[in-house]
Amino acid sequence: MPLIALRPLLDYAAANNFGVAALNVNNMEQIQAIMEAARATQSPAIIQASRGARKYTNDLFLRNLMQAAVELYPEIPVVMHQDHGNSPETCISAIRMGFTSVMMDGSLEDDGKTPSSYEYNVAVTREVVNVAHRFGVSVEGELGVLGSLEHGMGEKEDGHGAEGKLTLDQLLTDPDQAVDFVNRTGIDALAVAMGTSHGAYKFSRKPSGDVLAMSRIEEIHKKIPNCHLVMHGSSSVPKELCDIINANGGRIKETYGVPVEEIQRGIRAGVRKINVDTDNRLAITGAIRKAFFAKPEEFDPRYYLTPARAAMQAICEERMKQFGQAGHAKKVPHVTLEQMARDYTAGKFGENARPDTVVGAQKK
Ligand code: G3H
Ligand code: 13P
Ligand code: ZN
Repeated sequence: MPLIALRPLLDYAAANNFGVAALNVNNMEQIQAIMEAARATQSPAIIQASRGARKYTNDLFLRNLMQAAVELYPEIPVVMHQDHGNSPETCISAIRMGFTSVMMDGSLEDDGKTPSSYEYNVAVTREVVNVAHRFGVSVEGELGVLGSLEHGMGEKEDGHGAEGKLTLDQLLTDPDQAVDFVNRTGIDALAVAMGTSHGAYKFSRKPSGDVLAMSRIEEIHKKIPNCHLVMHGSSSVPKELCDIINANGGRIKETYGVPVEEIQRGIRAGVRKINVDTDNRLAITGAIRKAFFAKPEEFDPRYYLTPARAAMQAICEERMKQFGQAGHAKKVPHVTLEQMARDYTAGKFGENARPDTVVGAQKK
């Protein structure tokens, strides 16, 4: 099946009450791990690349690896998604490279660090919707800034993330503002802030409601029940994976991620896309460290990349089952991008998702 847009997959997931893992990739082995996991569990897949990943791989390698994935696994519906686009230019370049879904993260300015104003976020997100929907490509927006409710800091482990201390207003998406944001931008999915952050160091203890505000997701879902919600920073940071790394010369400090049962609670409250990168990074690193320690005389990369790929596949399979996407691959409707473009223009997904006819017009 050729690549599909995010929207038909999430519409199907909503109708069938499940969530879909959105898994980050930077190389061939990670794409293979996801596709093998999708085949083993008969799951649809969302494969996403950050700006850093696109720079690391070079777009052309990435596009051709993704092409190989859809050719080799024709029974698996795959979405190719730009993670954390920092500007309309980034999103538009992704669309030109063949991505079928883009995230315009206007919660931060285009430096990827400075929290932006609400009006800026609305304007850049709407601009991307106007272009993307004409090509049948879906758009994810973000309202609220990812960061810790424990200490108020934005996350700075990855290239993209707020710098400095954030206010509670920034750290928790406002449900009323979410209604306005979705109406004014016409996005297909909304990433919300409620205490998760990227990377391994999310919580200093198993999170309770004061630092992982799942109730906020439930409030938002009540206000915009038809909007697909997205949870970023959703790795669970399994202790077993940290232990493997540490037992083989690594140094991961004590830390806690997002418990899977909290994600499942989110799925019951409209969360349809769940972003996971760190768990796969931990699995890969643990397997490589273990292989290095087991046979220091080995130097064939296949010796350590094979178990690394298998370790990532195992985590992906586990999440695909836990989020409920397993078994659905063959049932996801295959809607072409051309059809999606016609549907957006015809207002099938709501008048607000229809691209503006006057270029540059801002819908109120
Ligand atoms: O956005 C967060 C993902 O974990 C991607 O991270 O920017 O290091 O590729 P990255
Ligand atoms: P983790 O760092 O928790 O895996 O989150 C990944 C993410 O949100 C990518 O956008
Ligand atoms: Zn993210």
